[in-house]
Amino acid sequence: MKVNLVNSTLDSVECDALIVPVFEDDDFNQPPVSRLEGLWGGLLKEMADSGEWKGKTGQQVTIHRPAGIKARRVVVAGAGKRANFDSAAVRQLMMSVAHRLKDKELQRIAAYRRSQIPLESAVQSAVEGLLLGAWQIDEYKTESRARGPAEVQLVMEEEITTESEKALGRGEIMGRATNLARCLANEPGNRLNPTLLATKAQEIGEKYDLEVEVFDERDMEERGMNCLLAVARGSDEPARFIVLRHLAVPPSDQPPLVYIGKGVTFDSGGLSLKSPQSMEDMKLDKAGACAVLAALQAIAQLQAPVNVVGLIPAVENLPSGRAQKPGDIIRSMSGKTIEVVNTDAEGRLILADALHYARSLNPHLIVDLATLTGACVVALGQFRAGLFCNNEELYQRFLAAAARSGEKFWRLPLDDDYRKELESRIADIKNVGSKWGGAITAAKFLQEFVGDTPWCHIDMAGVDSFPDGDELKGPTGFGTRTLVELAL
Ligand code: BES
Ligand code: MN
Ligand code: ZN
Repeated sequence: MKVNLVNSTLDSVECDALIVPVFEDDDFNQPPVSRLEGLWGGLLKEMADSGEWKGKTGQQVTIHRPAGIKARRVVVAGAGKRANFDSAAVRQLMMSVAHRLKDKELQRIAAYRRSQIPLESAVQSAVEGLLLGAWQIDEYKTESRARGPAEVQLVMEEEITTESEKALGRGEIMGRATNLARCLANEPGNRLNPTLLATKAQEIGEKYDLEVEVFDERDMEERGMNCLLAVARGSDEPARFIVLRHLAVPPSDQPPLVYIGKGVTFDSGGLSLKSPQSMEDMKLDKAGACAVLAALQAIAQLQAPVNVVGLIPAVENLPSGRAQKPGDIIRSMSGKTIEVVNTDAEGRLILADALHYARSLNPHLIVDLATLTGACVVALGQFRAGLFCNNEELYQRFLAAAARSGEKFWRLPLDDDYRKELESRIADIKNVGSKWGGAITAAKFLQEFVGDTPWCHIDMAGVDSFPDGDELKGPTGFGTRTLVELAL
């Protein structure tokens, strides 16, 4: 898909379909809607009067062979209330339109700018939305389905600035990276094992100029990454610890941002085996890792002027004759001993070693992204990820990045009361708390391994896929864009 910015008017754009956002509270007597009304003899008002047109988000009506304009079709796209048409709404609208136009085999589409937000953020969001909506999983369909449009024009009546051209490039990089995360997350467990994830990281590193280092199990043994190794024991597939470095300046001059992604390529629960139903989507337990990998790709492409290190502990959590057992005690890389009460709480184990390793890099800050707990899904549902943070300045920066990415988070507490539940009679800590507040006790467990380093933990268990009932399906690539925005 090639996207261009075009300075033009409604009637002179040539394309197969022209998308025109129309608001719930639009004034049909004002341009640009009045121009269409004039050409079409009050068609929109008639539709609105009859109740057929409401302008609500998601509503779309296609006008074929529209009179008086060059476009072959106009897609009148409901844009909700004018005042709420922010960058997230622009992204959402473009995503929905691109998704629905996908199998119509239209080659050239155009979208007319109507938002009041600054041009740069409108352009970036529009491009992101287009790429996300047009993307589709068809690798494993024998007959591959239609692709998105070949060409998209973003049409505006104002001057095209160099800043907006840059925003276009940024949107493309962000959109493609998010789709990369979706594509990787979508790979099933029989294909994408820890070794292959490491190979993908190496390929991306080569292509976009990232330093990539992969530790095998012997390297892990030497470093004492016993938690990662303990989880890996149950599987025939060896674990990998992947390090990706984007170094803008010598690391001694600037402490890096360290991004960690949970990379459990399949989570059966181990000997604390999951039920078949809760195991169904567990190929997605690597979604955090996919987002970190994709974010590093985008950060490298954008030549972000900061040092960023991505860490991915990659492992499969399976039961076998060699698997770790409930009641086992392991000595983590940090030296703290952990009583493994439940082998299905494996994410926090592998993150414990990754967080400890991160500290050895003298980081400016750490963000970890993990499909960590079902409890977080119970708490926040499928629309927001849980956010835990031990530092107010980082929290504010993170929120600012999230406002730009359009990804939604909700802060949960880190009170020490919850830590008590992790006290073990025989080890320094145990890996599960009581049945209540499971997202928080998981975060408290992780906090044991970060010390005073400014740190954000994102529990993205509920947002790794599109919500049930959404028109889009499958992995979301959640986290990718916020990590990139934070680095920028
Ligand atoms: N990968 C799961 C968490 C998960 C659950 C992700 C649902 C996506 C959807 C994690 O490894 C896990 O199994 N967590 C346990 C923790 C429990 C044993 C304390 C859980 O949430 O049940
Ligand atoms: Mn688990
Ligand atoms: Zn898991």
